[in-house]
Amino acid sequence: MGVLALSLCAQATQTFSNTGTTSGWDSTNKEHDGTVQQVTNVVYKGTTALKMTQIYDSSYTGRYHSEVVKNNVYKRGDTGFYGFTFRLQDDWQFSPAQSYNIAQFIADFSDTGCDDYMPSSMVWLVGNQLYSRVKQGTICAQKIQTFPNIVTVSPGAWHRVEIQASWKTDGTGFYKIWFDGTKVLEEYNINTTIEDDREFQFRVGLYANGWHDDDQMKGTQGTRQVWYDQIATGTTFADADPSQW
Ligand SMILES: *[C@@H]1O[C@H](CO)[C@@H](O)[C@H](O)[C@H]1NC(C)=O
Repeated sequence: MGVLALSLCAQATQTFSNTGTTSGWDSTNKEHDGTVQQVTNVVYKGTTALKMTQIYDSSYTGRYHSEVVKNNVYKRGDTGFYGFTFRLQDDWQFSPAQSYNIAQFIADFSDTGCDDYMPSSMVWLVGNQLYSRVKQGTICAQKIQTFPNIVTVSPGAWHRVEIQASWKTDGTGFYKIWFDGTKVLEEYNINTTIEDDREFQFRVGLYANGWHDDDQMKGTQGTRQVWYDQIATGTTFADADPSQW
């Protein structure tokens, strides 16, 4: 029993990996003038990376996603590691601060009548600060626990992000983030998802949510670019650590 449990726990399984290619995803979500491109001139590792671009348009009232989508990444009760690298353009304008989401877990709740696509955890920038959150409660009574000012992000540099989550609604969940290999967030005994058993997607990409949610673009940088590479999920830290595979 003890030996079996130990071997099960120690088993490394990389459940998904992508080396910065437009192929291999369940879908791509490009809105308005946004693009999702595979490039070879800016990479973290290997020969390819993904370049996400979004362009502000004051006459457009919709959202601004440029994302790739992996389905069925977690459901309530699961525990997993989720990693990726990202790089902001060299001259990324941090001020005035506005929200730019860079990764999210999300599921379609349009059958509930209370929401459509609802993100649970998100990872985003406000100015040069990395933020994250968990979503709690029910789809019709959502609660958000935000983790602000987690770490400072540098433009023009590749950053490694890794999340470990125990997705629970009984108060026993945990949520951790490593940034460039250093643990920067560790929350125990919290609810980390909402009371529902459906599968959530994992998406990486630029979602310029502030442009839509604030009904305006702050500052003067209406074209924004973020690169991604080495996106993975798995059962151990190494499975999803972009520097280890
Ligand atoms: C977790 O969620 C449950 C159900 O919504 C709630 O009863 C409980 O108080 C929550 N626990 C924590 C630690 O937030």
